[in-house]
Amino acid sequence: MDKFLFLLLLLLISTSASFSTLNNARLPGMFIFGDSILDAGNNHFNKNCSAQADFPPYGSAFFHQPTGRFTNGRTVPDFISQFIGIEFQKPYLEAQIEVLNGSWTDYPSNGINFASAGSGVLQGTNEDWGVIPLQDQLQQFQTLVRKNKIDPSLVQKSVFLFESGSNDIFDYFLQLDTTPKLDPDAYVRGMVAQVAKFIDQIYKLGARKIVVVSLGPVGCVPARAILPGAPIDRCYGKMNVMVKNYNKGLENLTNHIPIKYPHAIGVYGAVYNIFQQFRATPKPYGFSEVSSACCGYGTLRGLIQCGKEGYEVCSRPNEFLFWDYFHPSEHAYELISKSLWEGNKFRVRPINLKTLINITRTSA
Ligand SMILES: *[C@@H]1O[C@H](CO)[C@@H](O)[C@H](O)[C@H]1NC(C)=O
Ligand SMILES: *[C@@H]1O[C@H](CO)[C@@H](O)[C@H](O)[C@H]1NC(C)=O
Ligand SMILES: *[C@@H]1O[C@H](CO)[C@@H](O)[C@H](O)[C@H]1NC(C)=O
Ligand SMILES: *[C@@H]1O[C@H](CO)[C@@H](O)[C@H](O)[C@H]1NC(C)=O
Repeated sequence: MDKFLFLLLLLLISTSASFSTLNNARLPGMFIFGDSILDAGNNHFNKNCSAQADFPPYGSAFFHQPTGRFTNGRTVPDFISQFIGIEFQKPYLEAQIEVLNGSWTDYPSNGINFASAGSGVLQGTNEDWGVIPLQDQLQQFQTLVRKNKIDPSLVQKSVFLFESGSNDIFDYFLQLDTTPKLDPDAYVRGMVAQVAKFIDQIYKLGARKIVVVSLGPVGCVPARAILPGAPIDRCYGKMNVMVKNYNKGLENLTNHIPIKYPHAIGVYGAVYNIFQQFRATPKPYGFSEVSSACCGYGTLRGLIQCGKEGYEVCSRPNEFLFWDYFHPSEHAYELISKSLWEGNKFRVRPINLKTLINITRTSA
């Protein structure tokens, strides 16, 4: 009897496994590059790194435990994966451990998440925290492609999701060193040049569906309270000017993707617009608080990270636009993801992700 049950179980497991392979062969995956908005736990697997969210109450609303995601639940790649009908992407460093220790034979067919919280598009941004810069994320992906660890046809049909730059801009306003800085325009030009390089390289590695997610109004994050000279009762205008300037550069790059790169599609996610709508009319979106963080401590709950000594946490996190000092709540991420998935041109252009997923004519 026991033996029979065991065999039955084995049969069930192997059948469902082959079903999911079949499904996955039809569906695209997602390869993710960027910062804490997208990080699904890479930093957690990087013991050298001091930018962490792998302690309570991170993850409490959905995973019921910390996962390394910098919010109370799912982030943008998770929601988009749900809309596509694929599993959440594993952090690259976790997948690497599974493959190296033999518990997986291959890298997963639903894509990989390379994003690292605290990183920027500039190599040196928060280097001393041990984050993985965009350039190194690209290197990790490149190594897998060159060593044939990822099927080229999967790369070709998958979505490449990029979001980064808020840490570079935030750090510009942290007056930590006394060395003279570039002026804001030159700094932003340097950032955009790095993203241009990144797009060029992922295209050369086979990416054909490239989604560039722009920055939200970084000058509105509760953590601005730690910056000298930032206003508390409103957003930090100077920072938002830089953000808008950077976003313009990103949109221009995205518009040039189909011109510069045969058979590639570029999609621009206008998160700045999406986010400002939540702030302008919070109620219809289910928000009761759009300035202070739900979790943290001090002015705007923006002075100390959620989960660190002395933190406070609100009772209804999903009524807050911000979960912690830098990051939106799961509810905000869900709304942003829906906008990217099926939104109009004010939110995502020239096509939304739902349409992008179904385009199959892209051959290399
Ligand atoms: C951690 O830091 C040490 C020393 O700086 C370095 O040798 C090692 O490669 C780093 N590990 C990771 C995962 O970055
Ligand atoms: C491989 O590593 C993963 C992640 O740390 C762990 O969960 C799993 O048990 C390991 N498998 C083996 C066979 O060591
Ligand atoms: C827009 O992007 C293209 C292609 O990357 C670049 O050649 C051009 O200089 C950019 N234009 C502006 C106004 O930044
Ligand atoms: C995408 O394609 C699938 C399968 O052919 C179809 O069921 C679905 O309705 C399509 N979605 C859109 C938005 O066109």
